[in-house]
Amino acid sequence: MTTPCTAALTESRENRLAGMAGRCHSLAVTMTSGYSVPVSLPDGLALREARPSDLDQIGALLSERGEPDDAIDHRLVVTDPDAGLSACAVVVDGERVVSTATLLDEEVCIGGVRLPAGQVELVATESEYEGRGLVRALMHWAHERSAARGHLVQAMIGIPYFYRLFGYEYAIDIPQVLNVNAVPPGDGTATLRAARPSDIPSMAALQASAQSGFDVTMPHSEACWRWLLDHESSNLWVLEQADTVIATARTTPPGEEMLLAEAAARDEAAARDLLSGVAALASGDDPLRIVHRAGTVTGNAWQEFIDHEPRGNAEQYYIRIPDAAALLDRLRPLLWQRLTAAGIDRTGRDIVISTFGAHYRIPVLANGLGEVVTGGPIQSPGAVKGAGVAPDHLAALLFGPHGIEGLTRIRPDVYSADEELFQVLFPPLTADVLSYYLPY
Ligand SMILES: CC(C)(COP(=O)(O)OP(=O)(O)OC[C@H]1O[C@@H](n2cnc3c(N)ncnc32)[C@H](O)[C@@H]1OP(=O)(O)O)[C@@H](O)C(=O)NCCC(=O)NCCS
Repeated sequence: MTTPCTAALTESRENRLAGMAGRCHSLAVTMTSGYSVPVSLPDGLALREARPSDLDQIGALLSERGEPDDAIDHRLVVTDPDAGLSACAVVVDGERVVSTATLLDEEVCIGGVRLPAGQVELVATESEYEGRGLVRALMHWAHERSAARGHLVQAMIGIPYFYRLFGYEYAIDIPQVLNVNAVPPGDGTATLRAARPSDIPSMAALQASAQSGFDVTMPHSEACWRWLLDHESSNLWVLEQADTVIATARTTPPGEEMLLAEAAARDEAAARDLLSGVAALASGDDPLRIVHRAGTVTGNAWQEFIDHEPRGNAEQYYIRIPDAAALLDRLRPLLWQRLTAAGIDRTGRDIVISTFGAHYRIPVLANGLGEVVTGGPIQSPGAVKGAGVAPDHLAALLFGPHGIEGLTRIRPDVYSADEELFQVLFPPLTADVLSYYLPY
């Protein structure tokens, strides 16, 4: 578990790196949207934005160190008008690309508040260049770019533990994958077909409807819909009836060990037809597996056809909060709405949230919450009827399934002196995240 000390250490390493880059640059430094590239690194290496001539090398590096399809995914991103080459950075040794990372634009929605977000993806270093801090430097670039793009959080799926070194914390549960143990009979009036670009509005509308019951959501960006239609590692499907799209899903390529994810349907009959249509695409002895979206139309309609025994380990999305005050400030309308809905009146007082090394004071006014004021360390927030939340649990508190009550039971450095107030402000949350990569 990363401790607050480790978080501080991580920050100071990033700062050191930035300082080092500033001291020894032999390359011209250009400011692009508030962040500086290129950056000189030790041993004559340089970090810079990707160029068209790098694409083949980046693709080869990603395929070698990750999945073969990563090269296609990367090309789709950097050739898309919404992302482009500046979304990707490389570390080069001369002309040789030895490390790379890409930052995608996302949006996390929580209780009606839309938070601009970044997602780091397509990360790899050549084996012989590992352990030299190249991804640490690329993460610094990605976070600077993310800040310049106004992102208030970063969300990602990544290899275990690694990204905690860069300020990410596990916060949002990834839903279970469950086996299908019976297939409903289809009624034969609807047709399952591969999705086309013209289906994007219908698919997005079905997804919005499926996500409407969750507290925290991340939809596919418009660009991501295009990449999903074009890439090869997953397929988008629509179920059509009388020229109307009534259900949609995303699967791994048809065949053995097929996975059905991101299912959404107009009604339960469409959901059952979707399941039988996709099951017909699967082959082999392995059962079709589905990502369970609890409480949605498909989640409800498929109850009797799935084995509810959870499989596999716990999985969670990582969240990074680069600036707690800025995020809390953006969440003020939501926090106010939670207070008023619960009938809690603390007018004239401050809500104090201490992350121990700093604290955030939110004045409760007669008709809303005032601007967040940041202050220094408060070791005992109970003395001011506040809450204490270690910075590495803040993402779980704001976006996760436990709420302050659940976290208080398992984390010694999460607690509150005014339980009534803080349990209302920080309840357990449900979440549904759609990402470019299926996290399974
Ligand atoms: C994982 C990978 C990206 C790391 O790249 P790298 O350039 O060697 O990373 P860095 O040298 O910048 O390492 C930064 C820190 O992470 C540590 N680290 C490196 N790999 C790690 C791992 N797999 N798990 C935990 N820590 C790791 C380093 O020791 C270093 O710590 P320090 O700064 O405290 O000394 C690289 O090994 C790789 O390409 N692996 C295969 C593809 C992959 O897994 N990509 C990530 C997909 S999400």
